[in-house]
Amino acid sequence: MLWVARLSGFLSAAMVMVVLSPSLQSFPPAEAIRSSQFDGSVRFPGQIAGGARGVAFRRAPSFRNAADCGAGAGNGTAANVCDPSLVHTAITLDEEYLRGSVAAVHSVVQHARCPESVFFHFLVSDPSLGDLVRAVFPQLRFKVYYFDPGRVRGLISTSVRQALEQPLNYARNYLADLLEPCVRRVIYLDSDLVLVDDVAKLWRTDLGGRTVGAPEYCHANFTKYFTSRFWSDQRFAGTFVGRRPCYFNTGVMVLDLERWRRAGYTQRIERWMEIQKSPPGRIYELGSLPPFLLVFAGHVAPIEHRWNQHGLGGDNVLGSCRDLHPGPVSLLHWSGSGKPWARLGAGRPCPLDALWAPFDLYGPAGAGGEESRIVHL
Ligand SMILES: *[C@@H]1O[C@H](CO)[C@@H](O)[C@H](O)[C@H]1NC(C)=O
Ligand SMILES: *[C@@H]1O[C@H](CO)[C@@H](O)[C@H](O)[C@H]1NC(C)=O
Repeated sequence: MLWVARLSGFLSAAMVMVVLSPSLQSFPPAEAIRSSQFDGSVRFPGQIAGGARGVAFRRAPSFRNAADCGAGAGNGTAANVCDPSLVHTAITLDEEYLRGSVAAVHSVVQHARCPESVFFHFLVSDPSLGDLVRAVFPQLRFKVYYFDPGRVRGLISTSVRQALEQPLNYARNYLADLLEPCVRRVIYLDSDLVLVDDVAKLWRTDLGGRTVGAPEYCHANFTKYFTSRFWSDQRFAGTFVGRRPCYFNTGVMVLDLERWRRAGYTQRIERWMEIQKSPPGRIYELGSLPPFLLVFAGHVAPIEHRWNQHGLGGDNVLGSCRDLHPGPVSLLHWSGSGKPWARLGAGRPCPLDALWAPFDLYGPAGAGGEESRIVHL
């Protein structure tokens, strides 16, 4: 595989250790968002899952646009977010999945022909994480957006998996409001995935006038995502009349933000979340997915399945490793409760976790890596 061959090159690049101390204070949000200069130090107040006292990420190898990437590209990190030649990508950053998000970004820039033309929109509830991104990816074009957890706290109902209740999980519902109006399309990516293909191909997907593009799975049992209360009440179940709803995974979506804003989909999603919270009880079980299904299932622009080979997380029961679905692969997604960084850390990886490991920038350099400098706080 081509991308495997490319790994050996960047693993030998000199890497810089950035050691993040959890003991230091974070910046006030506004100041952190404004700060664009990285002064060699990174403050990270939180405690990373997995528990090390200091959190360390290696600096990512540098990346460059190919010669034919066009005007506006390759002009430093101060890209104008409204530059029409940019590929916009949105991803959340939080303490728990930070290692995953960093690996995802790494995989995107490694496989893009025009990595300097990719603009990242990071959704955070802890703005100091923007400084970490600057330290790890000095060239990256990005902006950090503060997502107020209070915005959804009152709307979240308890779900079967606690990880699904994190407010930041719902930030994808608000991309159309958070991002600049000039950003008319965005690719939303979960934190537990890596691309092994050029994100620009996904970016050019024709949505055929639809608002959401995603791979659809019409053989999946759609009934099970909603409760019997939902299906037995015509006011609810009637929402699917006249469409052929299919399951889609909300971890990889191409969103037409202009259409989204015009139709007010954020409010429609919130309305379903309110119904879920109100008596006499649940209309669905899982967290942020069902409202998306309610609003968009049956109206989704189908994207090739290669762009979301999902389910690789399995269910975390020993020996429950998943295999790839048949067909080509452009994106590997560890959805499910098992995460590759946790399994690798525990010394019990699934075979496919080896495909995630090359993009991991957490911890001291692994085989082939060299630390040229260590920054301590
Ligand atoms: C890069 O930015 C500078 C300053 O904004 C501008 O003068 C120059 O034309 C830009 N170059 C390219 C290739 O876009
Ligand atoms: C689909 O799921 C529902 C609810 O879990 C179940 O009752 C039904 O039998 C399933 N249908 C099929 C075809 O598996």
